[in-house]
Amino acid sequence: MARIKIKEILKGELIDQTVTVKGWVRTFRNNSFIAVNDGSCIHNIQAVVNFETADPETLKRLTPGACIGITGKLIKSLGKGQTVEIVVSDIEIYGDAEADVSKPNSYPLQPKAHSLEYLREIAHLRFRTNVFGAVFRVRHTLAYAVHKFFNDKGFLYLHTPIITSSDAEGAGEMFRVTTLDPKAPPLTENNEVDFKQDFFGKATNLTVSGQLEGELGAMAFSDVYTFGPTFRAENSNTTRHLAEFWMIEPEMAFFDLKDNMALAEEMLKYVITYALENNKDDIEFLSQRLLDEEKNKPQADRSELSLLEKLNFCLGNEFAKITYTEAINILRESNHNKKKKFQYIIDGWGADLQSEHERYLVEKHFKKPVILTDYPKDIKSFYMRMNEDGKTVAAMDILFPGIGEIIGGSQREERLEKLEARMKDMHIPTEEMSWYLDTRRFGSCPHAGFGLGFERLVLFVTGMTNIRDVIAFPRTPNNCEF
Ligand code: 4AD
Ligand code: MG
Repeated sequence: MARIKIKEILKGELIDQTVTVKGWVRTFRNNSFIAVNDGSCIHNIQAVVNFETADPETLKRLTPGACIGITGKLIKSLGKGQTVEIVVSDIEIYGDAEADVSKPNSYPLQPKAHSLEYLREIAHLRFRTNVFGAVFRVRHTLAYAVHKFFNDKGFLYLHTPIITSSDAEGAGEMFRVTTLDPKAPPLTENNEVDFKQDFFGKATNLTVSGQLEGELGAMAFSDVYTFGPTFRAENSNTTRHLAEFWMIEPEMAFFDLKDNMALAEEMLKYVITYALENNKDDIEFLSQRLLDEEKNKPQADRSELSLLEKLNFCLGNEFAKITYTEAINILRESNHNKKKKFQYIIDGWGADLQSEHERYLVEKHFKKPVILTDYPKDIKSFYMRMNEDGKTVAAMDILFPGIGEIIGGSQREERLEKLEARMKDMHIPTEEMSWYLDTRRFGSCPHAGFGLGFERLVLFVTGMTNIRDVIAFPRTPNNCEF
């Protein structure tokens, strides 16, 4: 009999028909009620066995985690909490899962609440929980929505390389890629490692961003985007940083900073709306989970909005748009600053904003997403377009409630002399980057782009608080399990 996914069955259109479902046992209660989940949706299907006629050996094997196939008639459910259920006529067991925790290799996901920390240790099994089922279905939908958004606008999906020999952000936080013998690498006359003898004949690393290659694409296809893994060897052990994360980087010819901001806001709202429409049950489940968690917190620490309200609020409001200089003034004048409640006190112009400042602007001052523009040139990357004032660049960061920076982008410096001068100032090798400068030599044009940290978007939409819980197998300092 052809198997039907639980999501389909729960639509209730197959009443009185014989159906087969396949999935993993969540619970088996009163020797009668099996709850099975196949990952197609947050809901389980309930199947009722007649324990008087069923094979007792089979019933014993219906333990949490076991993989089974069930065939039976679909009827309207008499019980609460489900619309339909299956009256079991046949059970096939594909794989057992040891339930006795005193035995070695027993199934670690018993039907009770497990902490997210514990589930992180068994990340290879956590997909089988309600929370992670919901998170990863939402993640999938968001990825699909990103592709749909850009495809519908006529963007070309460009696959940029993962191994590169350049540092796109000029920040030097890269993972080296090499096949040289770490114990005895070949040396140059100056006793430095001789990367000429390495696999690629030069020093290479994992990419921190596909932007520079994206810019090359935009100079031919007008509108391109990348969506791929990026790597940062920064030693940041926070709830917002991964060493390996996914980034979406659109790059548009003939766009200035304003166009760039408008596209970013439109895209964020589009993908959030798409997830709300297509993963309603998952997001409702996650929202309810947070409400339940909030109940255990002291009143003062409770968040004002539920997850669903937060998402809808973000969709219903235009993002605030202010310059870095305006932001510094707001922060400097804030009571928070005067009462020295920031760890880093704001007293002058030019310093980079810490996440406490970003969150103050978004969560306390504007209470909605904020786009900050025109940062001091010294705290931004070499490729950003110099403004008339000679002090600031046409940069934009989008800050989200509970997240901080979700997008970083800019209009690019399209003027060859200015870009070269800037690169020299910042000790970025212009000869090695000659291919990049060619975009400015041959048919240069005003252009702009941005990078969206995909996991930060998933954090926002799922209401999860630790970035390790929205990527399947997180890579962070001292952690590369699975
Ligand atoms: O601000 P970033 O470093 O910008 C770039 O890489 C540009 N090349 C993008 C562009 O203009 N095409 O990174 C962009 C975004 C950040 O806003 C953040 O959301 C995310 O990538 N991000 C990280 N996410 C998780 N872990 C990390 N270590 C991240 N670093 C950046
Ligand atoms: Mg940034």
